[in-house]
Amino acid sequence: MKSLFVSCILYLLLTPTFASDAPELPPLHHLVGIKASDAIHIPDTFKLGDEQELICASCHGLKDIDKTPLDEVNTESDDFLVGGGYRKITGFCYRCHDEKKTQRDNIHLMLDEKGEIKKKQCEFCHEEVPDREQVSSFKEAKLRLPLTTICLGCHLKDPHFNAVEHQVKPAKDEMLKRIEKNSQQQGIIVPLSDKKEVTCVSCHSPHQYGVIDPSTPAGKQVQTKDLEKGVDYQPHPWKAVVTADKLDRLAEFNKQHDMNVAFSYQRIGQETLLRLPAKDGQLCLVCHDFKD
Ligand code: HEC
Ligand code: HEC
Ligand code: HEC
Ligand code: HEC
Ligand code: HEC
Ligand code: HEC
Repeated sequence: MKSLFVSCILYLLLTPTFASDAPELPPLHHLVGIKASDAIHIPDTFKLGDEQELICASCHGLKDIDKTPLDEVNTESDDFLVGGGYRKITGFCYRCHDEKKTQRDNIHLMLDEKGEIKKKQCEFCHEEVPDREQVSSFKEAKLRLPLTTICLGCHLKDPHFNAVEHQVKPAKDEMLKRIEKNSQQQGIIVPLSDKKEVTCVSCHSPHQYGVIDPSTPAGKQVQTKDLEKGVDYQPHPWKAVVTADKLDRLAEFNKQHDMNVAFSYQRIGQETLLRLPAKDGQLCLVCHDFKD
């Protein structure tokens, strides 16, 4: 969601007008030359122009970035963004923007303090609030969009590593058979699209634990203590080893796809909105037989 914030937001900023001798800026770049309103709090360490307006040096620590050709700007440098070394780009945005005000409700928090459902949340995805006593399949649950697209818009199609590669129809029929057999055995559902593609909800339940009766297959899912906090990761003692092991392949991948993916091996602490735990492989084994 945070990345969504960035993309929506940068979209809004499409067309600042610059004089022809103004520095070339990448498309969708943050606006410059503007004075902050009361909604923005700029830390004192961030430089501003004579009129208190945003200048290149407000955000970039690279010397003469405005005179450097675009393709020569070193975005890897810790000085590229003032204060450097942000784990996520939004960490930088929140130096000036109010984090709370720019975040959206986690619509997956569907139960109130009394354990009653928050009906408003249901309608993000369902045409009407499903009657939980009556509705017992997703065909009856009147989704606003097909399974393949219902999560997109709020989430990216590639919210994490390996998500895109998974949203396909299994290459072998054996996998389909395995899914049917194993999901029954595990007492869960693994919804696939009309075309038998894996979708986000094949692995994830969109509902908070307890919204759907946990004793039914649609309601069986990983119980999450703190849904608001969501997935968290913990440092892993093997990080250095695993990272070193993947270094060459990752470099190759990045070269091939002209990307800059970094890898950091961590252990999943809390899992969230999953049909089965993934950290011990249970979820994966519903579909995969890694012996093949
Ligand atoms: C140095 C402080 C600073 C940083 C860092 C910063 N911004 Fe801004 N941003 C501003 C100022 C100042 C404005 C002008 C609007 C205002 O003052 O309310 C602005 C405006 C915006 C707007 C337009 C909002 C509107 O109300 O029209 C968006 C969207 C935005 N910023 C997104 C981002 C994103 C995304 C990041 C991180 C990648 C970011 N900003 C980082 C200072 C900053
Ligand atoms: C409010 C903060 C802010 C201001 C002011 C600002 N930038 Fe940026 N700039 C950013 C952010 C954020 C990015 C995108 C970083 C990312 O996506 O990794 C960026 C990206 C860039 C890049 C892209 C590098 C690349 O290849 O991706 C260049 C070049 C750049 N800015 C130049 C400038 C220049 C020149 C100015 C002054 C005219 C300026 N910026 C002012 C925040 C700012
Ligand atoms: C983010 C989207 C989303 C939201 C929000 C949402 N649902 Fe669903 N719902 C789905 C999807 C996708 C399915 C089909 C897959 C599944 O059952 O997990 C579904 C299926 C169901 C089913 C059928 C389960 C079965 O037995 O097969 C019921 C009942 C249901 N939802 C009730 C609710 C209620 C009540 C709310 C509000 C508290 C709600 N949903 C909010 C996406 C959503
Ligand atoms: C709902 C079924 C399903 C689940 C659950 C699942 N996978 Fe997959 N996985 C697939 C499908 C479908 C493909 C695409 C290739 C194919 O059809 O064999 C795939 C491909 C892969 C690939 C190859 C990706 C590539 O680059 O081509 C890896 C690695 C993988 N899965 C690992 C995992 C792991 C690890 C888990 C558990 C966290 C997992 N899978 C859970 C269905 C699943
Ligand atoms: C109306 C917007 C919306 C829709 C639709 C939506 N989500 Fe979310 N989702 C959110 C927000 C907001 C969060 C809170 C965390 C964040 O901001 O990333 C979230 C969090 C999550 C998380 C936990 C992330 C974490 O960091 O803990 C998962 C998993 C997830 N959503 C899966 C889904 C799936 C699967 C669907 C489709 C059935 C879906 N979401 C549809 C808005 C949405
Ligand atoms: C093959 C199974 C699988 C598929 C398909 C899949 N995910 Fe995930 N997803 C996972 C696992 C495993 C995790 C990490 C553990 C967890 O959520 O507890 C995860 C994590 C997430 C997170 C939290 C990421 C973080 O690090 O904060 C979000 C958000 C999310 N998924 C959304 C989606 C959406 C949206 C889709 C579809 C576009 C999707 N996922 C498809 C298995 C899957």
